[in-house]
Amino acid sequence: MPGIVIDGRELEAEGGQTVMQVALAHDIPIPAFCWHPALSIAGNCRVCMVEVEGRGLALACNLPIYDGLKVHTDTEAVRNQRKLTLQFLTLNHPVDCGICDKAGECLLQDYHYAHNGSPSTSIDPKVHATKHYSLGSRIVLDNERCILCSRCVRFTREVSGSNVLGIKHRGDTSLVRPAEGRSLDDDPYSDNVIDICPVGALLSRAFLHQSRVWYLTTTPSVCPGCARGCTIDVWHRKPEWRLQAVATHRNHTIARVTPHENPAVNGPWICNKGRDLAALVERPRALEPMVKGEVVAMDQALEAARQAIAGAQRPLALVSSWGSNEELDAFKEHLAPRFSCAVKEDHRQQPNEPGDDHLLLRADKNPNTTRARALFGETPAAVPEGTDLVLVWGEGFDFDTIPDGVATIVLGAFDAPENGLAAVFVPLSIHTERAGHFTNFEGVVSAFAPCFPPPATVADAETVFPQLAPQGATS
Ligand code: SF4
Ligand code: SF4
Ligand code: FES
Repeated sequence: MPGIVIDGRELEAEGGQTVMQVALAHDIPIPAFCWHPALSIAGNCRVCMVEVEGRGLALACNLPIYDGLKVHTDTEAVRNQRKLTLQFLTLNHPVDCGICDKAGECLLQDYHYAHNGSPSTSIDPKVHATKHYSLGSRIVLDNERCILCSRCVRFTREVSGSNVLGIKHRGDTSLVRPAEGRSLDDDPYSDNVIDICPVGALLSRAFLHQSRVWYLTTTPSVCPGCARGCTIDVWHRKPEWRLQAVATHRNHTIARVTPHENPAVNGPWICNKGRDLAALVERPRALEPMVKGEVVAMDQALEAARQAIAGAQRPLALVSSWGSNEELDAFKEHLAPRFSCAVKEDHRQQPNEPGDDHLLLRADKNPNTTRARALFGETPAAVPEGTDLVLVWGEGFDFDTIPDGVATIVLGAFDAPENGLAAVFVPLSIHTERAGHFTNFEGVVSAFAPCFPPPATVADAETVFPQLAPQGATS
């Protein structure tokens, strides 16, 4: 094991590591634009310079460690070099932070204040480039802000494999561009380049000029879009910055979704479907409990459902593969003894939607099939002959397969015609309104927390199930 000294500290390191990796593992900050822990080393931005005893300045990101290596990260020579590098990078940069979505989380801003702090030294007009270059339906590129670190290019080559992006021309006319007529729309992981771009050059169309990031906060969650169960951060408005008059729906809707790094599940990435969580969960809601299509109070609906369950001879329950571990456990404990149970696919792979792939995506478009099947088996979600009551929890079931005259109890979160046709309908909270855990296809359990309070007229499935048990009491 090589012995290495950084800033006077003797550090443990492994052969093959770089100075950057050892420093970061020991919480010694070294600035980096082009280096990213999940990408190959490009060594092009020069901001990571450190001073090596007996050798002078060197790039921390591509300097392999060796026995006896002594490094300093904060000498006068290092500070001068960082300042020069930042001055060079801002020579043609527009410094339009006032209208840039990256402001507040931009490495160029952060490093400028930490290591430069001086206005542009250029006496020549800045070189202009495309301010708004379309990279497809999801991303726009501001070439003036691009510092040509090549992170985005390497992502499409090394991680997503789409090979969509390249850099054309040379010097101060270099431009990131789609390669050979390809489109970022063909890359289901394209939006990761927005996160890893160290500046505000790659911008999400969905988030463009929607909010300053310092008005937002994050809640840790799990993407329900497929059986991978990627851990995510859901961004939403901070309570102290709630909007009072204009666009108040933004106080309780998702502003954006980013990966929550998790080596056990998704590493630092998610797919675009995970970014579009709002499209999955912010659909027209079913907010009123109903008995035979008539709106009633929740306790009346639960009592009617409880009586129907108690009186049924051969009841069938179709269990949701979107239920949390806690909800599935509650169903198993309180209702499974009364029912024949089968696990239902709430969502199915759509035409043109990727199935299993080399990176994250899974063909099973439900987050908790693993736990649901562990509890309720592999029985197909079909209605056996003689069934006299069907309880449908969640979405995705074809109600036309239920024989005429068989009563239904529907528990769901979204507006659907079958809600009003059911003997009883119970409105449930959605993913961003409740806490719980999902078990992904590899058995990894991840937690999600509520981002918003649920509407007063809906209930959490976990609290509903005990009240539906024949011996349970409504409240
Ligand atoms: S667009 Fe961003 S990630 Fe891509 S090369 Fe430019 S600065 Fe780097
Ligand atoms: S791979 Fe699956 S779980 Fe991960 S972000 Fe995409 S849809 Fe969500
Ligand atoms: S981070 Fe080392 S050269 Fe860019």
